[in-house]
Amino acid sequence: MAGFDSTEPSHVEESEPLRSDANIAGPTADPVPGPRTEPADAPGGAVDIAHSAPAAADAPVGRAAQQTVAAMYRAGGGLPRPERTRIMIVANQKGGVGKTTTTVNLAASLALHGARVLVIDLDPQGNASTALGIDHHAEVPSIYDVLIDSRPLSEVVQPVRDIEGLFCAPATIDLAGAEIELVSVVARESRLQRAISAYEQPLDYIFVDCPPSLGLLTVNAMVAGAEVVIPIQCEYYALEGLGQLLRNVELVRGHLNPELHVSTILLTMYDGRTRLASQVAEEVRGHFGKEVLRTNIPRSVRISEAPSYGQTVLTYDPGSSGSLSYLEAAREIALRGPIPRQHEGIHQ
Ligand SMILES: Nc1ncnc2c1ncn2[C@@H]1O[C@H](COP(=O)(O)OP(=O)(O)OP(=O)(O)O)[C@@H](O)[C@H]1O
Ligand SMILES: [Mg+2]
Repeated sequence: MAGFDSTEPSHVEESEPLRSDANIAGPTADPVPGPRTEPADAPGGAVDIAHSAPAAADAPVGRAAQQTVAAMYRAGGGLPRPERTRIMIVANQKGGVGKTTTTVNLAASLALHGARVLVIDLDPQGNASTALGIDHHAEVPSIYDVLIDSRPLSEVVQPVRDIEGLFCAPATIDLAGAEIELVSVVARESRLQRAISAYEQPLDYIFVDCPPSLGLLTVNAMVAGAEVVIPIQCEYYALEGLGQLLRNVELVRGHLNPELHVSTILLTMYDGRTRLASQVAEEVRGHFGKEVLRTNIPRSVRISEAPSYGQTVLTYDPGSSGSLSYLEAAREIALRGPIPRQHEGIHQ
């Protein structure tokens, strides 16, 4: 652990230490790895990643990130692996709320915990591919080929540098035309679902990063998976438009995928210094049920810097508050498992 502790940059950029409701110590509060206070419902308490993770990646950044995970959870067993692949649809038609950031950082967190995770970039902007350092210029085989030309998913999936067990199906600019092209394709709503079903590699999680719209691409994602993850930015109008998203989930559930439900709501860009952020958080928690993760993601410069280096915050700055909060959110998701539909607290 010594390398991680002594070489980390200082974290003066972070706007604040993690809030107490994030359930983890701030990154600078305890530079020496040791036992941490665990959430009340964490079975077995802390986790020793060394027993559950694959060998640390060769690259120094991968090793540092792996060591951070190990430092956070020193005692006890590893995180539970899901019995079957959990397919998480990260959606919110509102732009810029943290869908992509949440997708790549939750996926990286779970992979660093030892899970095998695939990120499917379903946004023509290709931001998830960029953030994972995956080449996605126009000639690269991509999710467009899978959706439109029935190319096997296995032919477009690429491993993510620095994080063992993490893979990405990139999006290229071609995908911008797919919303229109899909209209005339057979079984247009279930192209992604078919591709995933035919993918034979074992996976614990698939995260699908949706575009900021509720068109055919997002519908494809909702037909392919069971769990919708909604990032909500802690700002004014945070809940605006959510009704439409929830109605779409309802529609897809009614007509195309009876398993679909909102399993996870994550508050992003939380700035505890502002009263607005805590008001929004309170409102979201009051409005929705236990689907809201207890961990909030703080507003963090490190989180926003990481994509320009083709990295997640987990490898860019493993000890930062952004990295630790995503690790904690991922841990919550893994520990509680998929929430059965009948237990949903959401009024849709
Ligand atoms: N916790 C955070 N702290 C600071 N900046 C953040 C945080 N989360 C996201 N950002 C930044 O906010 C911007 C929007 O985030 P992101 O791209 O993840 O949103 P999105 O919902 O995927 O957007 P789009 O709808 O365009 O796909 C990005 O510049 C990102 O780096
Ligand atoms: Mg995005």
